[in-house]
Amino acid sequence: MSVALIILGAGKGTRMNSDLPKVLHPIAGAPMLIHAMRAGATLDPAHTVIVAGHGADVVTKAAQAYDPEAQVVLQPEQLGTGHAVSQAADALADFEGKVIVLYGDTPFVKPETLQAMLDAKADVVVLGFEPQDAGRYGRLLTNGSSLERIVEFKDSSPEERKINLCNSGVICCNGPMLFDLLSQVKNDNASGEYYLTDVIGLARNAGHSATVVTCSEGETLGVNSRAELASADAMYQAAARLTLMEDGVTLVAPNTVYLSLDTIIGRDTIIEPNVVFGPDVTVESGTTIRAFSHLEGCHVSRGSVVGPYARLRPGAELSENVRIGNFVEVKNTTIAEGAKVNHLSYIGDASIGERSNIGAGTITCNYDGVLKHRTEIGADVFIGSNTMLVAPVTVGNRAMTGSGSVITSDVESEALAIGRARQVSKPGMAQKLFDMLQVKKAKMKGGN
Ligand code: UD1
Ligand code: CA
Repeated sequence: MSVALIILGAGKGTRMNSDLPKVLHPIAGAPMLIHAMRAGATLDPAHTVIVAGHGADVVTKAAQAYDPEAQVVLQPEQLGTGHAVSQAADALADFEGKVIVLYGDTPFVKPETLQAMLDAKADVVVLGFEPQDAGRYGRLLTNGSSLERIVEFKDSSPEERKINLCNSGVICCNGPMLFDLLSQVKNDNASGEYYLTDVIGLARNAGHSATVVTCSEGETLGVNSRAELASADAMYQAAARLTLMEDGVTLVAPNTVYLSLDTIIGRDTIIEPNVVFGPDVTVESGTTIRAFSHLEGCHVSRGSVVGPYARLRPGAELSENVRIGNFVEVKNTTIAEGAKVNHLSYIGDASIGERSNIGAGTITCNYDGVLKHRTEIGADVFIGSNTMLVAPVTVGNRAMTGSGSVITSDVESEALAIGRARQVSKPGMAQKLFDMLQVKKAKMKGGN
């Protein structure tokens, strides 16, 4: 059975007080919209249609970065959830399977919940939940296992408000049936909106069946403000940390480790306190990420040790048993097995061969103000402390550079390159200088 997703995200999100469309605000480094798309993607949908309003262009960009086949349709005016879903009718004109409607600002719906909705035996299936406080949610009016109608809070009677089974907004229905029912929805209600929720009553009147699948309140958590965004992120982090620990990763101080939606960490890896994993990081088994390190867009292989206070930026590729020490920044660089960059260095647009040792304070001068250039360092190389490698430059296998060198031309294998002024020592000269300076100081005091 093929499935299509419609993800609603045209609402203004006024309470976010932002130029960025609400659905693009991130949780765990990924826009909320992507969380919803990921949950839906587990159903292998034939179509994914996102309904956007303001900022449809940036929404399209973000959606297609995740799924190039995702379609974005515009809802020019926000006339209600039913009107929003109708905007997807043309995109799904030839689609005959089941449609699932999700909200782009409700990031935590679980794949297994969506599967349960697909498996439920009714023409229309609504995802319901029983919140701590039913507040202003739409109420589900049931008769046994049959869902009869949804009443919006604003339109409900005091009796109906006592119902605790609420509408999450997620709905599943055969596509042509859904659009046919939506074409009958009117806006004669307290909000003057076209309610998606009206399709339930219309379906029942037409003799179709409807039912409810339920989930926990946490799954249907919606985000309307920056404070809610922060607490949704905290919820995500708490759950993701627990999963990691169950998967055999040691988090020494779990509450201080920040994870991204796509963070992958192998078993028996130790993560010390205050480590941030930005997007697109994979860390293999048996590594140690020491305190206060920041990683994004990088790969760390088995047995490596990173930090404390290390920064791995996009394109940092560490092979096995690599050592990256304190105050070292690595970007767009492959580091081969057993190599070490232990202290105070910037290594960018480079490759470092096996077992090479990069001395403290080494800098790859990769940028000339206009263009970026590469530094290629072979195997078993020793780069002396405080070497400036002015790229483009190559250092051959088993070569050495003298401390403090500025290396501007290639170093052949097994050569020692020294690029610095020769040292001069002048006997007695220091003492003369000290004496002179003391006299000067005494004169200055006398003048006061
Ligand atoms: C909706 C439901 C309500 C449910 C609640 C759960 C309706 C009529 N009501 O109410 O039963 O309990 O969600 O949170 O469906 N949107 C558009 N275009 C529009 C209007 C909304 O894209 O014209 C999108 C919003 O961006 C949002 C979602 O639809 O992602 C829900 O809209 P919202 O206004 O938050 O609906 P509620 O009034 O909360
Ligand atoms: Ca809402």
